[in-house]
Amino acid sequence: MKQQFLFDKIPAMLHGGDYNPDQWVKYPEILKKDIELMKEARINCVSMGIFAWSMLEPEEGRYQFDWLDERIESLYQNGIYTILATPSGARPAWLDKKYPEAMRVDSYGQRNHHGVRHNHCPSSPAYREKVREMNTQLAKRYGSHPGLILWHVSNEYGGACYCPLCTERFREWLKKKYKTIDQLNDAWWSSFWSHRYTSFEEIEPPFQNGETSMAAMQLDWKRFTTWNTQDFMEEEIKPLREFAPQVPVTTNFMHLYGGLDYAPMAKDLDVISWDSYPFWHRPGESMGHTAAVTAFSHSQMRNYKQGQPFLLMESAPGLVNWQPFNKIRRPGVHRLSSLQSVACGSDSVQYFQFRKNRGSFEQYHGAVVDHEGSDRTRIFREVAQLGEDLAKLAPVAGSRVKTQAALLMDTPNRWAVELISGLSEHKEMMETVCAHYESFTSSGCDLDVISSDTDFSSYKLLILPMLYMISDELGEKLKDYVKQGGVVIATYLLGYVGDTLLAHLGGFPGANLREVFQIWNEEIDSIYPSERNAIRTGDGRLYEVRDYCEVLHTEGAEVLASYEKDYYRDMPAVTLSHYGKGHAIYIGARVEEDYLKKLYFKTAAALGLPVCSLPENVEKHVREDEENLYTFYLNFNDQRVSLHSVTPGGDLLTGQEIGDTAYLEPYGVLCLKSPKS
Ligand code: GAL
Repeated sequence: MKQQFLFDKIPAMLHGGDYNPDQWVKYPEILKKDIELMKEARINCVSMGIFAWSMLEPEEGRYQFDWLDERIESLYQNGIYTILATPSGARPAWLDKKYPEAMRVDSYGQRNHHGVRHNHCPSSPAYREKVREMNTQLAKRYGSHPGLILWHVSNEYGGACYCPLCTERFREWLKKKYKTIDQLNDAWWSSFWSHRYTSFEEIEPPFQNGETSMAAMQLDWKRFTTWNTQDFMEEEIKPLREFAPQVPVTTNFMHLYGGLDYAPMAKDLDVISWDSYPFWHRPGESMGHTAAVTAFSHSQMRNYKQGQPFLLMESAPGLVNWQPFNKIRRPGVHRLSSLQSVACGSDSVQYFQFRKNRGSFEQYHGAVVDHEGSDRTRIFREVAQLGEDLAKLAPVAGSRVKTQAALLMDTPNRWAVELISGLSEHKEMMETVCAHYESFTSSGCDLDVISSDTDFSSYKLLILPMLYMISDELGEKLKDYVKQGGVVIATYLLGYVGDTLLAHLGGFPGANLREVFQIWNEEIDSIYPSERNAIRTGDGRLYEVRDYCEVLHTEGAEVLASYEKDYYRDMPAVTLSHYGKGHAIYIGARVEEDYLKKLYFKTAAALGLPVCSLPENVEKHVREDEENLYTFYLNFNDQRVSLHSVTPGGDLLTGQEIGDTAYLEPYGVLCLKSPKS
């Protein structure tokens, strides 16, 4: 079988990162040294030009490419490939001076001054034109360079602009969606507080000192912001595809970022990439938890393209500069964290950044090469060591994580939950979703994180945490999934509203799911943060409950656990229903993770998923190709642990054969290759 690589030119894992030679053009010795150090660290690709606009076009229409020509060519001559960015993430001062409409307007209606980055107006025709001209130049000049492997469009798209141009586009977008103002009024329930509109021209964005009471409008504004950003991104991509159609395109996404819905944006990209900066070593948080939250994002990223390997585009080998306290990673953690991304489906480890800036905002941000400038630093040596590890993991490149369990996480649903006014302030949507992810994966099985437009049929189990907003179509899709034999586990807040936040009439869970779960959720009790209740399971065990307790009635469902106290004492808290060929479990309260872990382990085992017992703070992930399994065990403890019931195989990192018991050193990793049976 031929191994499938993301890039034919690099038949291996990618290793490298952001490289900003535009800041060092006056230091030829340093530029020369960079290539030497890259080779020593086994770096095979770098991302360039991300914020280089003022060096690429120092004055309007005067392009300056010589420094970039030289870099791309020299790197290529030394076996190092280029990921080339479009520089739209930050603008030169001349551009803002001449085209002030490119500067974003904030949510109070005030226009920004020139400065910082990631703050352009996505609607501005002038900015779109400048970007088109720049991207055309780049595509024509470098599109067929043999050293170029990928376009990196802009950088971490995000935020929203509230300017008159965006307002006008918002109105157009709404007209297209609702056709008539009457239909918009109905969808937004705008007769409340006399907020009915008589024409689209009356609609403004949800300014902070304006309309903040209408959740449906705010939700549409967020959808519009994604649409408008995506539209800008598509315009950025056009000249690249026109003049360099053979070069794939990515943009770098962010961890748990809630400003945009990445799912539709991902469809425009050839490769998914993201920037991962976990808060390792945070007091009061286990390394295992930090790792699980990171693995959640890895899973989400790989599933934006149905399991295709993604790229870890940025990570910090040492410290970052934007946390309140920037604790440096302990020796060994860089390797562990990097190999976790590979275990979860990444075909790269890339850094921000290769060489530390001499000045300005990110002067103290960690980098592969320190201000000291040599290979003698601990961090350089750890990076070089990882370069060797990645070379040994070349056989894993192109393989995929495959699992039969998935967790549904739609960004618009996250927005909907965040927009609920009332109930509990402790919404903790992402914490909850990650807690379910962590509880499930403690069984040793991988879990896909998917959006609702995914085909559910390859999964035996679907987890639906806080799936509050369910359209009639999604309700039907879920119903059909269970009817055909699927198993769903859902929690409190299931199906309260449709996709414009109008409550489903006829009892929750709505969207026809009452029939599937065979319960009626009559009311929800949002208890104070200091209060607790508990649920009691059939075996008499108690599990603590906080924040949310729904008062349920069974309409055929079996009761798996009931409340311990309050006026709903002994009433159902967790239920199980059989529907069609499948079944549906409902968890009506925010119950402690210990319960979730047991429930998930038992359910996964009953479905024949490959569960196993793992020590605390140890992760297992499996990648596979047609012939082999690559089983990763990762130890997030600073102590040695022993493993039992290991999937035996040859450790690609050490060359040793491992049987069914093994040790993992502190922060240690195993990658066991075994033939598929
Ligand atoms: C990322 C960004 C990089 C750099 C890095 C620092 O979010 O894309 O340009 O600023 O953070 O951690």
